Amino acid sequence: MTILNKQLPVNKADFPSLNNQLMLSSCSQSAPPQAVFDGLQAYQETLINQGMNWTAWMEKVESAKRKFAELINADLEEIAVLSTVSDAISSVINTLPFDSDDEVVVTELDFPCVGQVLQSLNLRENVPVTFIPETDHTIDSKSFEKYITPKTKLICVPHVSYYNGALQDLASISRIAKENGSLLFVDAYQSAGAVPIDVKEMGVDILVTGIQKYLMGIPGITFLYMKKELSSQLTPAVTGWFGQSNPFAFDVKGVDYADKTRRFNTGTPSIVNAYAAEQALDYILEVGISEIETYLKGLSSHALTYAKAKGFTVMSPQDVEKKAPTTAIYVENANEVEEKMRAKGIIVSARKDVIRVAPHIYNTEDDITLAIDTLAEVVNEQS
Ligand SMILES: Cc1ncc(COP(=O)(O)O)c(C=O)c1O
Repeated sequence: MTILNKQLPVNKADFPSLNNQLMLSSCSQSAPPQAVFDGLQAYQETLINQGMNWTAWMEKVESAKRKFAELINADLEEIAVLSTVSDAISSVINTLPFDSDDEVVVTELDFPCVGQVLQSLNLRENVPVTFIPETDHTIDSKSFEKYITPKTKLICVPHVSYYNGALQDLASISRIAKENGSLLFVDAYQSAGAVPIDVKEMGVDILVTGIQKYLMGIPGITFLYMKKELSSQLTPAVTGWFGQSNPFAFDVKGVDYADKTRRFNTGTPSIVNAYAAEQALDYILEVGISEIETYLKGLSSHALTYAKAKGFTVMSPQDVEKKAPTTAIYVENANEVEEKMRAKGIIVSARKDVIRVAPHIYNTEDDITLAIDTLAEVVNEQS
């Protein structure tokens, strides 16, 4: 695919979901580009016109993985494909061997599924779980220094918080983890597509993300990165025929795990999702992640300034360098406010006590101004 004009913002006409509404919900669901709908259509055509085509389907899955590997600077063999982030985390956590004095550390900013998977480990295997507390919805590097100890086998951290877009400095957390002999696990679901990720440079051991949020795709597919030096030593607890060297050997008695992280594949991948993911990743790679980051920082800064000027309390970090594009604005009855905004044609996303304004490269400062003005109207109507 070639985007003829890479000028940001990109043209809204290339995003069918923007015909009828203003979308500022990339922390939950972005507007997919037309290319994603073309990908879905292409899968449908293989069913209608070819009946089945395993070769083409598997090539599509490989191609999506290759593009994801490029996005995060990993090798293709270091990527597995699963369905949800929760599945990927469960697979990793249940596979890692824990000794009797090992501990795991997670943050209060993590998405609930991370804490829930770790607590299931604790219930079954008594591995102690420590939560690093947040202060004002962020965690600074001193807290990581305090809570990561030589007993820490694994530290789990969200690259970007789902609640307010708080951005973590992965390189510095990795340094603390390495000094203590801990593995670093990153949930990148809120950063992938908006913020550059280089797993090698940042020293990340394991990373997971789906594509529904800033990667402009749809739910149903998740990429798991695990560095090859680690995955090669592990026997996956969650496995299946696609985790074998040759899934098509059909050897019911044989177990021959695939090389490196491929062994974390399970059953037939979600092929329709791979068609969507390949197009979404292609789109992001073609625009360029550092161009996207720079553009979105401008919108992020405008959202911070304008929300405060309208008298709102902003629950995101106030420094644009310490946050991703999502800006969290405190409101009462956030779910109700989200529905009222939807009725006015503006899609934003509620979590707990905030409305998240989460722009992408099809949005402009004017979109954010309009959304925050409308939010003020809705809140005033309520009081
Ligand atoms: C940061 C983060 N991690 C994990 C999840 C959950 O992903 P899944 O539903 O694929 O398990 C979400 C979903 O919103 C999220 O924002």
